[in-house]
Amino acid sequence: MCGIVGYNGKEKAVNILLDGLSRLEYRGYDSAGIAIRDKEIEVFKAKGKLSNLKDKIKDKKLNGTCGIGHTRWATHGEPNETNAHPHVSNDGNVTLVHNGIIENYQELTQKLFRHDYKLFSETDTEVLTNLIDYYYKKYKMGPIDAINRTMVRVRGSYAIAVMFKEYPDEIWVARKDSPMIIGQDSNGTYLASDVPAILKYTNKVYYIDNMEAACLKKDKVIFYDLNGDVVKKELKEIKWDVSSAEKEGFEHFMIKEINEQPEVVKKTINSLTNNNKIDLSKTGLKEEDIKRIKDIYIVACGSAYHVGVCAQYIFEDLARIPTKVDIASEFRYRKPILNKNTLVIIISQSGETADSLAALREAKNMGVKTLAIVNVVGSSIAREADYVLYTLAGPEIAVATTKAFSTQLIASYTLAIEFAKIKKKINNNYYQELINEMNQIPEKIKEILNNLTTNIQKIASKFSNIKDAFYIGRGLDYAISLEGSLKLKEVSYIHSEAYASGELKHGTISLIEDNTLVIGIATQEEIFEKTISNLVEVKSRGAYVVVVTINGKDVSKVANNTIMIPETNKYFYPSLSVIPLQLIGYYITVSKGLDVDKPRNLAKSVTVE
Ligand code: F6R
Repeated sequence: MCGIVGYNGKEKAVNILLDGLSRLEYRGYDSAGIAIRDKEIEVFKAKGKLSNLKDKIKDKKLNGTCGIGHTRWATHGEPNETNAHPHVSNDGNVTLVHNGIIENYQELTQKLFRHDYKLFSETDTEVLTNLIDYYYKKYKMGPIDAINRTMVRVRGSYAIAVMFKEYPDEIWVARKDSPMIIGQDSNGTYLASDVPAILKYTNKVYYIDNMEAACLKKDKVIFYDLNGDVVKKELKEIKWDVSSAEKEGFEHFMIKEINEQPEVVKKTINSLTNNNKIDLSKTGLKEEDIKRIKDIYIVACGSAYHVGVCAQYIFEDLARIPTKVDIASEFRYRKPILNKNTLVIIISQSGETADSLAALREAKNMGVKTLAIVNVVGSSIAREADYVLYTLAGPEIAVATTKAFSTQLIASYTLAIEFAKIKKKINNNYYQELINEMNQIPEKIKEILNNLTTNIQKIASKFSNIKDAFYIGRGLDYAISLEGSLKLKEVSYIHSEAYASGELKHGTISLIEDNTLVIGIATQEEIFEKTISNLVEVKSRGAYVVVVTINGKDVSKVANNTIMIPETNKYFYPSLSVIPLQLIGYYITVSKGLDVDKPRNLAKSVTVE
């Protein structure tokens, strides 16, 4: 999705804007632009990579200390220079960058045409820019009035940063359903759609709420509500350190983040336990709340949905709570049946995924309690849910999630164990055994990374030219197959499918031919033999079989390659089996020479529907 940065202070804005935009590249984009104010506002835009924009301005003297920048991921209109942001109103009065989508832009276009405005691009953003200009001139009451009138007139989602020709030392911002944070330090004020863009400069931020606006001066930020009244806000500290958003010697963010998993999983466990007992007090969930829960609905997108599929097995098996899991874009239109004792759990790394946010609101409208498992502090989902469980993955930059996924798994284990204890489905000894075993997960992940990486590199190099792959398993092994398959396809562009192995014979097995890669996950004791017999079926039809299983298991009769992971409690295998699957996705992609951190057509955080 698009990225926004802005700076108003003592330093030259150009360097801060370009640095910020480079840190937003991971979100995905197809053009970029900046507007810098010295005496006049100058706008520079380029199609394609940020380096094209840098080339364009390399000989310019840009001394301005106030500016805004944008990386655009095309929604309305093709990726070209005209459609790139910043957009400028007809007579240069308003310069604006925008993330999001204006749904009623066609109707607003007609309104602008009736008032003799012209549009040069195909974007909804240019409409927004001119609409602000229209209200600014019509009512002559200054920026906040123009922005507020625009906010009540447009439908959709937006985070905007605006410079007005007649207000030289100010940047104005506003947002609805699109992320934005505002930072401040002794050098000036900053804005960004995402924390990593400004983390190098400051970790002190304000959170701007939906339908609020703000004015960034060089030394302060003033917030306004929709009536134009001033709103008081506190500066908050972000606990992520700068190095967590740098590659630190790794070739890609994805492999760096894979290797960070022992540490962030440990941190997340520590934040949810106290004296070797689970402690959910930070989430706001109390024992009485848990006792009331009769069923659970887990809602998420992509990999976070796969965590939900794992969690479903564990909530039902361990805590005996009926649990459903749904894709957020389906849930929000499904008219699900929820009752007052349903707990809806929304899982989201960014906390800004549009469908997950809409699902959360849908659940709240039905009067149901909501719990968010979120990584980004202060994100929309975190702010709107009744209870929040923060994962401590730190900033995740690679588009393909790895470390956030692993911390979300831990979050689900702790919830399931605690719910099982409170609902008296497990005794104290087993409760303690589960916690002791969970504490071992970080070390076991480390062991996998240390011992298996070379073997997986070898397997991966063999398969860089394949067209298809299948991931199969049963129960929790099926749940993690879904994630393994997504990890491969999203970064390597190899077609891949995950199947519950018992389902193969109902159609998919006809796709198996000589040397088709089938990765079988077999960690669940109770269904181990059944998975193996499904693997025998594909092997006898020519498949090349890689088996991920537990140390000591003999799978030689079926496996062409075996990946052995350490033993753990049956519920925790997803945390271990996912590691080789992430490595397979990563190394196959690297051996194909593709940009593993920024796969084509994908965005890190999907803030539009
Ligand atoms: C895949 C991936 C996505 C996200 C999904 C949800 O590697 O990262 O499938 O899991 O877009 O994003 P969040 O968790 O931010 O809601």
